[in-house]
Amino acid sequence: MSTQPLSGSELEDIKLMAQKHFWPHAKPAGDISEETGLKTITKGEGIWLYDENDQPWYDTTSCLWLVNLGHGRTDIADAAYAQMKEVSFTPMGSFSPPTAKLSAKIASYSPDKDSRVFFVSGGAEANETAIKMARKYHINNGESSRYKVISRRNSYHGATYATMSMGGGTRPPYEFEPLMPGSVKIANYDSYRYGFSTISEEQASEEYAKDLERAILGHNPSTVSAFIAEPISTATGIHVPNKAYFQMIREICDKYGVLMISDEVITGFGRTGSWFAIEQWDVTPDIITFAKACTSGYLPIGGAIATKKISDAFIGDESKTFTHLMTFGGNPASTAAGVKTLEIMEDEHVVENSKQMGDYLMSKLEELYKYDIVGHVRGGKGLLNAVEIVKNKDSKEPYPNLAKKLGPLYNKYKMIGLPSPIGIQLAPPITVNKNEIDDLVERTENVIKDL
Ligand SMILES: Cc1ncc(COP(=O)(O)O)c(C=O)c1O
Repeated sequence: MSTQPLSGSELEDIKLMAQKHFWPHAKPAGDISEETGLKTITKGEGIWLYDENDQPWYDTTSCLWLVNLGHGRTDIADAAYAQMKEVSFTPMGSFSPPTAKLSAKIASYSPDKDSRVFFVSGGAEANETAIKMARKYHINNGESSRYKVISRRNSYHGATYATMSMGGGTRPPYEFEPLMPGSVKIANYDSYRYGFSTISEEQASEEYAKDLERAILGHNPSTVSAFIAEPISTATGIHVPNKAYFQMIREICDKYGVLMISDEVITGFGRTGSWFAIEQWDVTPDIITFAKACTSGYLPIGGAIATKKISDAFIGDESKTFTHLMTFGGNPASTAAGVKTLEIMEDEHVVENSKQMGDYLMSKLEELYKYDIVGHVRGGKGLLNAVEIVKNKDSKEPYPNLAKKLGPLYNKYKMIGLPSPIGIQLAPPITVNKNEIDDLVERTENVIKDL
């Protein structure tokens, strides 16, 4: 079944409806002008998104880091459709075959193969679930005083109240104060400017990890429930921590009985060249959260993967049960799309492709250091990269008003993505090939030349 692109008065009507009634996320409503406004996207195929004039745009960030298998995959759509025709929803106290199958598949890719998966509908719900799970874990173990959640400044864990309290959320979050009680912040990892007046990444990474210990001690360890971090934070500009960092974090969490949560909403399912990013630090978190790419973005999904140690604490008398419910969590259509997505990833060796193409992209991006304004090229783990643009390479002074300048240049070079205040972020579908990487680097270089 194919659909015709909209045209003529039908297209005009759609645009008027959007202008008048559609409330976009995190953008001003009502602006559908070509220069600054919302685009009308009518179709997608592979790395390409097509606008109302059938013009192809390069999807430089897999939309919001989720369409990992590219656009227009009828096999994922068919799997969801087939499941919807069998049964589209199952009642409480039951489960459907794809839901069971997806939980087993996800466990098999997790660091702890005996994990259990609690399904929800998105990333924020996944993180809310994880922090409630951590709290209840401690209650079940007789430590009900543990409720505080430590997170890293300017991370992003979602836009709901609790997740916003743990990260930048909707910036600036203080507009929405008071935040969740017990939200404690520590420094985030910066592989370019470092912190704590350190002069090498090695020193800095140790200080970043020690900042967690300082926070736990400063807040009374017996009140601290969990620490949450993205293995590679996209919100703070894709700084890749060194080998020691997460290993130290794991040791500190163990020392004080604090649960470690790895937010893999972006990094999960192959984005960084492994099924989950945290495995590249040889660390097993207590809980991993995921969403987006589990269905390659074709249907909403999310979840919290708990190790056996954590999930076993919920088994026993009724008081131990995790009384937490999200209506759409684990629904058959989404999980069928998830199973298909993971089967495709296995059959087409997509995780390996992410690693190989990621290495290739990184090597091409490093050639951009020849430009005076290219301060730092980050990535090297799969297809999650950033090119930081600066005013002055020696002083690392930020480039002024960058996001505003990048917007029109993205339009000029037909790139759909997320122009950011630090520079250019690249995360194409992980099925991308070498020619398509060359094309992406050429567009990126054109933007840099124009700047
Ligand atoms: C690391 C991370 N965690 C959580 C979320 C929230 O996910 P959602 O928008 O599905 O609620 C996001 C969204 O981009 C994210 O990047």
